[in-house]
Formats: sequence, structure tokens, C-alpha cells
Amino acid sequence: MSTPLLAAPIGSTRLEICIADITTLNVDAIVNAANRTLLGGGGVDGTIHRAAGPELLAECRALGGCETGSAKMTRGYRLKAKHVIHAVGPVWGGGHKGEEDLLAACYRTALALAAERSLSSIAFPAISTGVYRFPPERAARVAVGTVVAEIANDPRGIKRVVFCCFSPDSAEHHRDAFTELGLA
Ligand code: APR
Repeated sequence: MSTPLLAAPIGSTRLEICIADITTLNVDAIVNAANRTLLGGGGVDGTIHRAAGPELLAECRALGGCETGSAKMTRGYRLKAKHVIHAVGPVWGGGHKGEEDLLAACYRTALALAAERSLSSIAFPAISTGVYRFPPERAARVAVGTVVAEIANDPRGIKRVVFCCFSPDSAEHHRDAFTELGLA
């Protein structure tokens, strides 16, 4: 279990930043940075499917894909996490095609799906900052800002949100976003 690099309270919800392989986290749901087919791929998508086993792909096949900026939930199968929330982030196209709004919508939709199922903990990778080339510092600001705003509006039940980074640089971008919001 990764120890958080940073933890900050928002009301009764605890926000954390860690550096870890998201498939190792023991949370109610991990978020996958998926593509619109939901049929797997490289990056964190590939790692999650490998760790969850073939039943995950079988369930995903039945979902009929997912639009960019949205997300769908499945079981976690062999993962420690009970659920996987497959979010489809935007491909970076220069920043004038609504990329930031679409990325924010991924975080918002994932939190809403978690709240609908009364989940209490969720972990996000840095959606879109790999293959989809979203500038990581801008993505971190969108990620943290969206999660803080959603929790402030409706803390329904989520007690723990983990920003699961895969590199020190990514963790630093998220820490900077926390600092800009006065959380650290
Ligand atoms: N745990 C946590 N984070 C990870 C892991 C992991 N095991 N593996 C990679 N990451 C990080 C990357 O370092 C990056 O910061 O996840 C972030 C997202 O990168 P990608 O996985 O490349 O996802 P994304 O940029 O959203 O592109 C999605 O890539 O893998 C394909 O099928 C996927 O087509 C989709 C596209």
C-alpha cells in the first residue's frame, strides 16, 4: 500500500497524492484511462486489464463503448479494487477543442458513478497525460480543481480520493495544483 506524499482534507473527504501502480491500490474503485472502444489498450489501460483478468474485457465488450468525457463502471475481478471506472479522456489537440472541459467531465462523471454506488474511496490516474499527450501540469490543475469543486458541492459519501501518479513529476504537478488551491 503506498503512503501518500501529501494528504489534505476537504470537509470530511481526504484527498491524497501518491506515486504507485494504480492496480495495487486497495480502494473501492480505480479509474482507468480508457479509449472509446473500452476494449483495452496500452498504458494504464493495459496494466489494469492484465491485472483484472479476462473477465474485465468480457464485461467491457457488453458496454458498447463510451464517449470521450464520459465513464462507465465495471467490476474489478482480480484487482484489489471492487470496481473499475473506465473514463475516456480527450486527446490533446492544442487546447482549443474543449479538451479541458472534456477532461473535467471525466473526473466529474467518475465521482458521480462512485457516489451512485455509495463507494467511499476512489483512485485516479493522470487521465490523458500519456498517449493522449495532455500537458501534465494543466491536466493536474483540471483534475484537482474538478474533484475539489465536486466534493464541495456534493460530498455524498466519498471519503477518500487518491491521485495515483506514476512519476515524481506527475506527483509534483498535482502538488502544485493543491498549493494553488490553498490545500497544501
Ligand atoms: N498506474 C498509475 N498510472 C499509470 C500506470 C499505472 N500502472 N501506467 C501508466 N500510468 C500513467 C501514465 O504515466 C500517465 O500519466 O497514466 C497516465 C495516463 O497515461 P495513458 O495510460 O497513456 O492514458 P491516456 O494518456 O489517457 O491515453 C489513453 O492510451 O493506453 C491507451 O487504451 C488507452 O487509447 C487509450 C489511451
